[in-house]
Parts: sequence; structure tokens; C-alpha cells
Amino acid sequence: MKILPYAPDQSGLAYSVGTTLDRFIKLKQSDFPFASGELSQLLRDIALAAKIVNRETTRAGLSNIGGAFGQVNVQGEEQQKLDVIANIRFMRALSKGGEVCAIVSEEEDSVIDLKNSSGKYVVAIDPLDGSSNIDVNISIGTIFSIYRRRTPAGSPIQEKDIMQAGTEQVAAGYVLYGSSTMLVYTTGRGVNGFTYEQSLGEFFLSHPDIQAPKNGEIYSVNEGTQHDWEEGFKSYINQCKERRYSARYIGSLVADFHRNLLKGGIYLYPATKKNPAGKLRLLYEANALAYIAEQAGAMATDGTQRILEILPTTLHQRTPLLIGSQEMVKEAESFLSKPA
Ligand code: F6P
Repeated sequence: MKILPYAPDQSGLAYSVGTTLDRFIKLKQSDFPFASGELSQLLRDIALAAKIVNRETTRAGLSNIGGAFGQVNVQGEEQQKLDVIANIRFMRALSKGGEVCAIVSEEEDSVIDLKNSSGKYVVAIDPLDGSSNIDVNISIGTIFSIYRRRTPAGSPIQEKDIMQAGTEQVAAGYVLYGSSTMLVYTTGRGVNGFTYEQSLGEFFLSHPDIQAPKNGEIYSVNEGTQHDWEEGFKSYINQCKERRYSARYIGSLVADFHRNLLKGGIYLYPATKKNPAGKLRLLYEANALAYIAEQAGAMATDGTQRILEILPTTLHQRTPLLIGSQEMVKEAESFLSKPA
């Protein structure tokens, strides 16, 4: 019997499809000597739910899942049916996976205790970000943060397991349901992006080791609220215009963030009269993107403080957010008045 070593095909007849997310997660598990595979499984659970939500969003116009659900969430925002569907999908995946003990979701008033006290991880999630864009076929996203619980596995969930600063995240990511669907995540060793290949039903590594440009020429802000801005903020945006920067605002944080991360730019949501503490939620929007931003060499602040260092005091706490290319965020911050 002849035994030959495997020789990769050189004919070019069957091009390589690349590295799947599953394989990538497995390869990277050895970066964490103490990890026993639960975090990897948790990331896979999130990816599975993302594929299902991707299926629902792409066929939303054909099935009866568009439009309002008829209820208002804890933020006072009208829930869309797809918000609710995405919440169910992620909740189900996370509860069945067994690695998670508690979930904070934009769509739930309280912390959800999965009654799985052996689970090591807490997940904070915005299942479907950019609700106003759902029904008009514009990019939307999912944002997630993963924390290790502070109390020992096996004991009841406590507030200190949930109210952790962003610096404590062990992983964070987002899924962008855009012209293609992408999953981008970090476990604190750089940022990698994966594009969904519909026909194979897999995410493939398409954006390895994402590095954000240090500077950029795109600013993303809802200028309709400008009469509510503080003077310094107005001056910064005026300067962007004087410099002929491009204004790009989709109104889905994930999509605006993703573009600026790749191309160089800044996303800003300041305090306004309507939202004096800012609009975006610290636990399941700002923290995850701030972690990814920093891991890619970008920056995130609330105007005076690094987002990741803010200690949350309430579950659905809001924060102003300036996030994107380092030089732009530093410059924008320098325009803002400092607290007395
Ligand atoms: O989750 C909040 C959100 O929908 C973000 O995705 C988006 O960037 C922002 O709100 C849009 O807010 P506005 O409609 O006030 O510009």
C-alpha cells in the first residue's frame, strides 16, 4: 500500500473558499490558555442567530414581518416586528448554548436570568440596531458585548455581574446586514471581519486584522438636531464643512461605524435637548463598538471620558458618543466644553 502526503491542489480548477468563522474561532482558541472552549461556542451561537436574523431580514418584504409590533420598549421607542424577532432569535441561541447566565437586551426592561447558573458569561445585546431603517431596506445591525461574570459560576446572578465597565469585556462584535452581511468581532487581540456566503451558509474571513485609518474625511451626525448642540460641537461640525469633509449618515450606528472604521471618519451623537445624556446605550451599543474601535487603533469617548471606563449605574444608561479615527475624535473632543 502506497501512502502519500496530502498535496494541495495546484490546478486552479477549484479555488479555495477561505477560512470559515468556525475554523478561525477554533484556531484562535489557543490564544487563551485558560479558555476551555465556552467563549468559542458562545461566539458560534451568536453567529448562528445572526444567520437566522439575516434570513429574516432579507425576506422581510415578502413575509408579514415588516412594520410595527404595536408595543413600545423601555426606551420609549416603538418596537418593530423584526426587533422582536431578532430578540427572540438571539435569546434562544444564547439560552440553548449553555455558556451564558444572563442577558441584557435593548428589547427587555430587566436583566434576563437564564437560570443557567453554571454559565460563565453575561451578554449585553442590541439585537437589531437602526430600527428606523428596517422597513425601508437600509442597512441594520446587531451589536453584542460579552463579559465574564464576577460571581462564581453556580451562584445566583448579582448586579456586579452585569454592571461592569467596558474595559472588562472579553469579546465584542457586530453583525452588519448590509449590501453583504458581515460579522466583525474582537476578543482583545485585534479585529477580524467575516462576510456571509449565502450559498454555503457560512461566514468567511474577508477582513483580517482590521486597522482603522488614523485620520479621515467623513463625518456622520444627525444634523437635524444641530439647534440643540452646544457651541463647541457646532464649531467642530462647521470645521468639517470648511474642510470639505464628506457628510455620511445612514442612521444605523453599525453601518455608519463600519464605514468609518474601514475608510476613516467619525460618528458623533452628542447630548441634545431631547436626549441630554446622549441617545446611544452604553451597555449594548457604545461599549462594544468602543472596544472594537480601540482594538483597530481608533478611539471612542463621550466627549470627556473614554467610553470603556464609564461605570454603568443603570441598565439602559445612555451616553454621548464620539467614535472613529483617532485624530478626528481627539480634535472633536478638543472643541467641547469641559465639565466645571
Ligand atoms: O440605536 C440607536 C440608533 O438607531 C442608531 O443606530 C442610530 O445611529 C441612531 O439611533 C439614529 O438616531 P437619530 O434618528 O436620532 O439620528
